[in-house]
Amino acid sequence: MLYELLKTVHVLSIVLWVGGMLFAHFFLRPAVAALEPPVRLRLMHDVLGRFFQAVLVAALLTLGSGIWMLGRVAKQVVQSGGSFQMPLAWTVMATLGVLMVVIFMHIRFALFKRLRGAVNAADWSAAGAALQKIRRWVGVNLSLGVVVLVVTLLRQA
Ligand code: HEM
Repeated sequence: MLYELLKTVHVLSIVLWVGGMLFAHFFLRPAVAALEPPVRLRLMHDVLGRFFQAVLVAALLTLGSGIWMLGRVAKQVVQSGGSFQMPLAWTVMATLGVLMVVIFMHIRFALFKRLRGAVNAADWSAAGAALQKIRRWVGVNLSLGVVVLVVTLLRQA
């Protein structure tokens, strides 16, 4: 029961994280592109600030629940006398998942901080440059997330 609960938390966190990136990248960004820089950059700063707060929780939940599930399965296998061999799809998920968390921390604690400083100083060219970098890294994380989902969900096909 606990395992199923953690798997649900794991997948719901991914839905929020990957779904939010998809929305920001493909729907929000093109829609605000026509706005004047001060309006656009303030709006994106506000939206991303709220989104990244939720993603910080989701990323930690994804990592924590994923590691817990791995440990639980490994322990059960070892306790019943076997040796634990991590399935390839799980190895891909765990490796790329940790990479996604690291990239997110860079986005949140380096690039977004830069965006916040520039917006507060009304330095729109620096804010635009920071947002451009955020966009690029969110694109990378979105691609990694989709790869992990495809590999994980197709592993039994
Ligand atoms: C951060 C490191 C991660 C670890 C250690 C991890 C580990 C795990 C483990 C052990 C399971 C249970 C698999 C099972 O019982 O069949 C699982 C399920 C799952 N994970 Fe992860 N995961 C991580 C990140 C991610 C990421 C980044 C995604 C997607 C972008 C993801 C998507 C999923 C999905 C969709 C399932 C459910 C698979 C199913 O029931 O068929 N995980 N994860």
